[in-house]
Amino acid sequence: MTLTRAHARRWLDRWDRQQEGYMPSREARFDTLVDAVAETAGRADPLVLDLGCGPGSLGARLGERLPGAAVVGIDTDPLLMALGAAAYDGIRFVDADLRVEGWSAVAGLPRPADAAVSTTALHWLPEEALTALYRELASVLRPGGVFLNGDHLASAEGTRLAALERALAVRATERRFPEGRPEDWAAWWAAVEEDPVLTDLHADRERRRAMAAHHGFESLHLETHVTALAKAGFTEIGTLWQEGDDRLLCAFLPE
Ligand SMILES: C[S@@+](CC[C@H](N)C(=O)[O-])C[C@H]1O[C@@H](n2cnc3c(N)ncnc32)[C@H](O)[C@@H]1O
Repeated sequence: MTLTRAHARRWLDRWDRQQEGYMPSREARFDTLVDAVAETAGRADPLVLDLGCGPGSLGARLGERLPGAAVVGIDTDPLLMALGAAAYDGIRFVDADLRVEGWSAVAGLPRPADAAVSTTALHWLPEEALTALYRELASVLRPGGVFLNGDHLASAEGTRLAALERALAVRATERRFPEGRPEDWAAWWAAVEEDPVLTDLHADRERRRAMAAHHGFESLHLETHVTALAKAGFTEIGTLWQEGDDRLLCAFLPE
C-alpha cells in the first residue's frame, strides 16, 4: 500500500496535536524560532540543519516562511522521516544517529550551515553525547552561525524557579486544552501500529529500536545545555522565548 501525501498529512496533523499536548504553545515557539533564523541567517537562501527533525514539522514551517532556505533534517526514525518526505516538499532527510560521531559527514553538506535548529529532540541525549554533538555542530556551522533549540529545559532541580516553571506549564496546558489533553505519545504510536499503510515502516522502526541503546530523558536541564554549548565553543547563550520550562535557547559561534 502506498503512502500518499494526503494520508501522511493526516498523520502529521495528528502528530502536531499530540505534540501540543506537551508544548501548548508549540506553534508560537516555531514562529519565534523561524523569526530568529530569518534575522540571523544573513542571506535569503540559508542552509539550515534540523537536528532530530522527526517528520519535519519545523522544516515545513521554515520552508513556508523562508522559501529560499535549504533544510537538511537529521533523524534516525524511518517512519517519521517517511511521513515527512511524503507530506512536505523541500526538506532533505538524512538518516543518521546524532550520538554517533561523523553524523555531519553523513549529511554531506555542500557548505558550512548558516543556522542549526532543533525542537523537542536533544533531551534524549546523555550529557557526554550532547557535548560531542555540539562540538561536531560547531565544526559545520559558519563563523557567527546560530544554534536555536526549542525544548523542555528546566531550571535547577529543587529550586522555586523550577517548581514555578512546572506550575506555569500545567496552567498553560489547561488553558490551551480546557476539555482535557489531546492524544499522548503512546496513543499516537499505538494508532500508527494499527495502520496497514505503515506496517513495513513500523517494523523497520521497531528493529532499529531493538538494536539501539536505550533512549532516556537525559538532558532536560537548561544548565546541561548551556555548559555543553560553552564547552563546544558557543558564546552568547541565552533564552529567546519561554513558557514554563518550555524554552527557546539561542547560542552563537564567534564571528
Ligand atoms: C519528539 S520528536 C520531535 C520531532 C520534531 N523535531 C518535532 O518537533 O516535531 C524527537 C525526535 O528526535 C529524534 N532523535 C532522538 N534521538 C536521536 C538520535 N540519537 N539521533 C537522531 N535523532 C534522534 C527522534 O527519532 C524523534 O524524531
